[in-house]
Amino acid sequence: MLQVSIVGGAHARPEELRKRLGGHFDIAFTRLEEIEGSVPGQYILFDVDLSDPSLIIKIKDWLKGKPGDARVVFATDKSSRLQNTRAYALGATDVISRPVDVRGLAQALGCNQTEPKDEFAALANGSPDFAAKAAPGVKAAVEGLQDIFSSAFAGKPVEPEAVAAAGEAIVHDVEAHGLSTWIQLVRAHHSQTYQHCLLVTGVVVGFGQQIGLSQADRKRLSFAGMLHDIGKARIPLEILEKPGPLNNEEREVMKRHPQYGIDALNEARNVPQDMLDLVLHHHELLDGTGYPHGLSGGEIPDLVRIMTISDIFGALIERRSYKPPMSGDAAYKILLDMGAKLDKDLVRAFSPVALGRAAA
Ligand SMILES: [Fe+2]
Ligand SMILES: [Fe+2]
Repeated sequence: MLQVSIVGGAHARPEELRKRLGGHFDIAFTRLEEIEGSVPGQYILFDVDLSDPSLIIKIKDWLKGKPGDARVVFATDKSSRLQNTRAYALGATDVISRPVDVRGLAQALGCNQTEPKDEFAALANGSPDFAAKAAPGVKAAVEGLQDIFSSAFAGKPVEPEAVAAAGEAIVHDVEAHGLSTWIQLVRAHHSQTYQHCLLVTGVVVGFGQQIGLSQADRKRLSFAGMLHDIGKARIPLEILEKPGPLNNEEREVMKRHPQYGIDALNEARNVPQDMLDLVLHHHELLDGTGYPHGLSGGEIPDLVRIMTISDIFGALIERRSYKPPMSGDAAYKILLDMGAKLDKDLVRAFSPVALGRAAA
């Protein structure tokens, strides 16, 4: 019988869980307050309240001691995307809805592989280990982005918590599996806008890691990566997802997206000014030829410069219906050719990221 360590929060009822699962799994139950002294096993189920952010660090620390191939499943409330996204940011290999049942848990723990996971089918691109490897992170981030974009589209405030959780799911995947795996997975995604935001976020996180930015700045960049093109939610879909290059008129409409982004975020509370700068200025260029304000040189802060390089690179390596994805080498050459438009030192520092030689 499979040995499963269950970690329960204050609300978890060990007796009920034993009754439900006991005949099928060998269960060891520990309260979250008492996990410090215990060692994570191969099969772990968390039944804790992930809407309480104070628990996150405790869980994260404890999971550092788990075996590399451990299965970590979180039970969450149905339809709570925030909880699901947090679970994936913590390194969940799967998430199941409460109440936990034998079939769901067995499947999530990987001991009953008879049914394929349909929800990953749309994301998978014929790569057999796609779902197994890092798809949960992609799925969580896509769901997070969908919420963020639909709020912006409807003129509703964007929830900074949801953005941060989705950004953290990407940080976790990029740090755990490396940027090239992330790029490969995201390229399989069908929506150009989401694919772009996911790629740029992964790239900017990888870039921040490469140049040794602080955790706080990397967090800022992952947040901004998710949000930088949020104004595109207000660009007509036929322009946004056009299966070919844009004409001049369409390009002018598209250029409004940084301002639209700020309009959307101004309706949200708690979005810090440096984040707003990243959204508004990610298309500014050092020689003053960018938009919307034609800023130049010292008017453009470093984090914005980093974002701009990652954004251009992300756009070049995307898979589009009308063109194959460009290789990292070819895209990097274009960055070099942009000369004085980009920060030369940063472009140089970006080379291991672009050429796939950055440390995973
Ligand atoms: Fe943009
Ligand atoms: Fe972008």
